[in-house]
Amino acid sequence: MSPAFVLEVQTNREEEELVESHEYHDGVKHLCERGLAKVPRKYILPALERPFMSKKDGATNLKLPVIDLAKLQGPDRVHTLKSLSKACEEYGFFQLINHGIASESILNMFQAARKFFELPFEERSKYMSKDQSAPVRYGTSFNQNKDSVFCWRDFLKLSCHPLSDVLPNWPSSPAELRQAVVNYSKETKILEFEDGSQLIVANFYPSCPEPDLTLGMPPHSDYGFLTLLLPDEEVKGLQIQHEGRWVTVEPIPNSFVVNVGDHLEIFSNGRYSSVLHRVLVNPIKSRMSIASLHSLPFNSMIRPSPKLISDANPRRYMDTDFASFIGYMASHEHKNKNFLESRRLTQQGDA
Ligand code: OGA
Ligand code: NI
Repeated sequence: MSPAFVLEVQTNREEEELVESHEYHDGVKHLCERGLAKVPRKYILPALERPFMSKKDGATNLKLPVIDLAKLQGPDRVHTLKSLSKACEEYGFFQLINHGIASESILNMFQAARKFFELPFEERSKYMSKDQSAPVRYGTSFNQNKDSVFCWRDFLKLSCHPLSDVLPNWPSSPAELRQAVVNYSKETKILEFEDGSQLIVANFYPSCPEPDLTLGMPPHSDYGFLTLLLPDEEVKGLQIQHEGRWVTVEPIPNSFVVNVGDHLEIFSNGRYSSVLHRVLVNPIKSRMSIASLHSLPFNSMIRPSPKLISDANPRRYMDTDFASFIGYMASHEHKNKNFLESRRLTQQGDA
């Protein structure tokens, strides 16, 4: 073979890969709209990381502990707080009922997000950004600049604080989106810290021709204090790791799935756990969810509460802030709980 020919083949291959990789960055929905009978190689997980590897996995559905928010204000307060604490220790997850958030706000939030994903690709793609701290970010996969295997998910992330600063950056189409997100953000914010940070993420998981080869989201933990998740009421998909196996969460209507994030695991000095979870995709139906991630203000430091540190229970995590989290995400492929692990102190006596 002549060197010129080799060079030409090589260049073609590189160009092809470039085109291909550009397509993947445009998102799963865009890819599917052109018709797909098979999952492209870019989304195929190594055999051991596929969703139905172990027979035990997904075999049972899990009813999470249920916390009634209305009871936190009444005579059952002490008992409810105990159940809440137990749920955060044993599951890292619970379902919140009687949360007091108007079903209209929830419906409008879902509908606005659905309409956003239905917009032509050109409109959606205006909001693509590689900047992890941009107030609006439309994108795909989990951490698309770092993921070697892509996951089957597109997302719209809207940072919600302070509202007056971020609002003008949010998508202007569909027309009702800004108002729907403002209402939803204000209502959900009363459940958390004054002045805290909030990120609303609308997840869209298109139906997938080969759902056992890929995941909508890989095993991960959430970084904040608490995540309030509105799962799709018609299509299951969220799995959490519980007692060494993956179990599918059975959502109950009009409730939130709430989970402990990395910051709360740190704040509680490890008493509450930020549990790994992942998302399966569906062969027939697309799935949508709205996650709202709540934490302390962006410029604050997260550290174990001094009240929870003693000689018998020494400090287990370093101080951490958002900047170090964003720095970490920008430079690592996010796998499992590796951010939290990087904040863990080695105990005296450990090697
Ligand atoms: C998330 C998440 C689960 C889901 O957005 O962090 O875990 O069911 N979502 O979409
Ligand atoms: Ni999550």
